[in-house]
Amino acid sequence: MTSIRIRRRDTIDRPRGIGGLCYGGDYNPEQWPEEVWREDVALMREAGVNLVTVGVFAWSRLEPEPGRYDFGWLDRVLDLLHTGGVGVCLATPTASPPPWFGLAHPDALPVSADGTRLTHGSRDTYCVCAPPYQEASVRVARALAERYRDHPALAMWHVHNEYGTWCHCDHAAAAFRDWLRARHGSLDALNDAWTTAFWSQRYARWEEIAPPRATRYLPNPSQVLDFRRFLSDAMLGHYRAQKAVLRELTPDVPVTTNFAFGGWVPVNPWEWAGEVDLVAVDHYPDDPAQAAGQTAFAADLARGWAGGRPWLLMEQAAGIVYTGPRMRAKPPGEIALHSLQHIARGSRGAMFFQWRASRGGAEMWHGGMVPHAGPDSRVHREIRDLGRLLPRLAEYGEGGAVQADVAILWDPESWWALESPAFPSSEVRYLDAVQQAHRVLWRSGVTADFARPPGDLSAYQMVLVPALYLASGATARNLASYVEQGGTLVVSFFSGIADEHARVRLGGYPGALRDLLGIRVEEFLPLEEPVRLRLPGTHQPSDTSNDVPRNMRENITGDTAQDVPGNAGEDVPDDTGPGIAGTIWSERIESRGAAVLARYEGGPLDGLPAITRHSHGAGQAIYLSTRLDDDAYAGILAAAGLPASPAPAGVELVRRGGEGASWLFALNHTSERQEVKASGTDLLTGSPIDGILRLAPGGFAVIRMPHDTP
Ligand code: GAL
Repeated sequence: MTSIRIRRRDTIDRPRGIGGLCYGGDYNPEQWPEEVWREDVALMREAGVNLVTVGVFAWSRLEPEPGRYDFGWLDRVLDLLHTGGVGVCLATPTASPPPWFGLAHPDALPVSADGTRLTHGSRDTYCVCAPPYQEASVRVARALAERYRDHPALAMWHVHNEYGTWCHCDHAAAAFRDWLRARHGSLDALNDAWTTAFWSQRYARWEEIAPPRATRYLPNPSQVLDFRRFLSDAMLGHYRAQKAVLRELTPDVPVTTNFAFGGWVPVNPWEWAGEVDLVAVDHYPDDPAQAAGQTAFAADLARGWAGGRPWLLMEQAAGIVYTGPRMRAKPPGEIALHSLQHIARGSRGAMFFQWRASRGGAEMWHGGMVPHAGPDSRVHREIRDLGRLLPRLAEYGEGGAVQADVAILWDPESWWALESPAFPSSEVRYLDAVQQAHRVLWRSGVTADFARPPGDLSAYQMVLVPALYLASGATARNLASYVEQGGTLVVSFFSGIADEHARVRLGGYPGALRDLLGIRVEEFLPLEEPVRLRLPGTHQPSDTSNDVPRNMRENITGDTAQDVPGNAGEDVPDDTGPGIAGTIWSERIESRGAAVLARYEGGPLDGLPAITRHSHGAGQAIYLSTRLDDDAYAGILAAAGLPASPAPAGVELVRRGGEGASWLFALNHTSERQEVKASGTDLLTGSPIDGILRLAPGGFAVIRMPHDTP
């Protein structure tokens, strides 16, 4: 082993020694005989791979018996990779403790809500609150760091894998009580926050409190919410303990972990983002028809967590995606197209799970960069082609900030609270609401940021607030001041309903946002069947939903702003317009100063407001009290001033701007040829583009534009 010294930078958010974009994936050499390793590294070189995550599930190989380490094989792997020019994102293997661990420490195995103690046999069998697991984790992290601190291949630390394991054991219960003491201060405050007067749940001693274990009927929603918050913090504590050791021994090496998406993940990435040197995410779209939109969604979310700074796509699938009821092979071209989407939206590269598809084991059917067929395969050829392309983007480096005029608020705690079982409609789902908001923007060709409430929103022309069920007073004030200063806020139903303890705000919904929206909602009427909404004031009846945006625009904005009645609760002229449908949800709204943009037609709410707009200060706050389809939603946004995109439908444009340069990423998600107005140099082909960029079906381009391009 040779050793290197790299000067410490102020920020260490770039894998050490990797200048351009990162390209590679999880590499699990412990699954293969050594002769395969040489072929692996040769293939990696050919494919332009420059970074691999090693050892993420290798604990039983690294520490076959408690305290006895076997590093010989890993030494050889790291040396080989280094010789091949591949950097290593070295993982601490704590997501998969070895068989001996559970036998030695049965109390550290996780307990499910129903009291079942899980056993070794899969992965993630541990409780982050169990002292033996905490100690073993830090020990193995220290052993790795001591061994490899000076290894030249070491580019980054990858702590654990996809934090998200729930445990309801006694260790977790004790730690939960400590956390609750710190959060609530006193039992009185906790009893009040959890509304324990209901069903005789009042706690007289801390020892009486437990995690939300299996119980007879509905659990206490505030307890469940606090438990998820606690789990996020407990896991963060586990991460921090390892990070401290890695930082102490390798101060120049960035440390990260990979965030997962999903309702099962009790991790609040907003809280974690400041603890990782480079935000890293895994992404597996689960709907083939929406895969491109879901990719943009995940990438925008990751950039939000990273505060607009570069982040890294740590995992995606190369071939078959191991998810859903039916595995799905990525169609030709999608590996590159999705990777470029992530890079356009701020990823510092494209990484995969995993390098070589396993021949056995639980995930043997998950695709690999080298599939079961070997390198002579369509998938590997696409991997090689992409690897040859990415260095052409090297000049783009940091790439400048992604430019977005619209933000969507993202609040995992509202998501968690809405997962509770006893809500007025099980069809009101946080993720659906947020994904729809993003999808509508994406299809309209508008790039969105995700923002954390409350936060600085002044950079955005428009902010969407989907299903922000929990809203603190600070969030309500923050949104009001955004609108006062000229912003356009679009709030959708079931926002602002509860406080941070998941208690309903009284006096009419949506409690926290009532004044800002200029309305008061008396009751909710979840819908079984769609309801018609009557749009106001057009004299051009239309039979296509695509006309809705135009009709609404005529009535709400632009030169016709004077047509819109003020905030006296009067209507936009009524009755002659086409209708749109509302689904899932409806509300009995009384306008308290808001103009009515659409009314319910028929049923118990006939003639009452469904969509409203309230002027507040220099801005406007729009409220959608029912679920619209995507076209109608887009119509509302266009009417409210959403900037129009120059892109043809199905073409994704992302603009990046830095000091002295700007770039346009153009990605064609259609099966037709497309044209986009652009001038500059195509970095991928080196060709000049003079006014018109032509994109092949599924094609993409990255254009360096003259800096003064508007
Ligand atoms: C990820 C996980 C990987 C692998 C992959 C495919 O969520 O981090 O280890 O399991 O999914 O299922």
